[in-house]
Amino acid sequence: MKIVLLGPPGAGKGTLAKGLKDHFNLMHISTGDMLREEMKNGTDLGKEAKKHIESGGLVPDEIVTKMVESKFKNDKNTKNGFMLDGFPRTKQQAEDLDKILAKVGQPLDCVLSLDASLSIVLERLTGRSVCRACGALYHIKNMPSKKDGVCDKCGGELYQRADDNEKTIKNRMEVYSKSTEPIIDFYKNKGLLKSLDANKEAEEVRQYTIKLLNG
Ligand code: AP5
Repeated sequence: MKIVLLGPPGAGKGTLAKGLKDHFNLMHISTGDMLREEMKNGTDLGKEAKKHIESGGLVPDEIVTKMVESKFKNDKNTKNGFMLDGFPRTKQQAEDLDKILAKVGQPLDCVLSLDASLSIVLERLTGRSVCRACGALYHIKNMPSKKDGVCDKCGGELYQRADDNEKTIKNRMEVYSKSTEPIIDFYKNKGLLKSLDANKEAEEVRQYTIKLLNG
């Protein structure tokens, strides 16, 4: 299965991808995670990405597209199926993705659009914490860790992302409406789009998506 997950910041793309990964044996490819890894390692790419991520803007298309292209060329695990999370984010990226996937003979099967209200995404982002070691996701109210600040899965330290503050979230939302929302129609016109209500509780969203993908 070859899937793109679309949706506003905080809709639950990462949470859903983690919940579907083992069920369907799919690779989770998150451009946000890849960029944060570059930032952590202090690479030139990471330094460039930091400027855009911390203001809530988009990293330039050519940088992100090159990173995704290299993943599909060099990682054999992408051949078994994948979920792209956070890419594409612009019409240009969507067109480039078509070309990349045509080259590797892996055209998309479906694009899942996660619909969530503004109040829900705001509440989710301001309460989110992430494990520094394994990337597991938590929420102060919806999915709290058993021990404050400590990951249930690996014992790693939980932290709040630098872009999860009110000012940056507002900018990320505006960027989503302006640059990413228009590609929903791009995929609708290709007959690939399936929408789901992501306002619901995480396990309900996961079960619904499994049925949708099996159907
Ligand atoms: P990225 O990391 O992709 O961030 P995002 O798209 O803003 O999405 P988030 O990770 O914030 O949210 P999510 O939908 O995955 O929600 P999550 O599952 O974590 O990108 C970050 C930045 O990198 C961008 O701003 C940009 O600068 C740059 N970038 C990345 N890709 C790029 C590209 N292609 N081009 C250019 N720049 C790019 O859930 C959120 C919280 O809610 C969690 O706490 C979770 O526990 C909770 N939760 C989730 N689902 C539910 C549920 N159903 N019920 C209750 N709680 C839930």
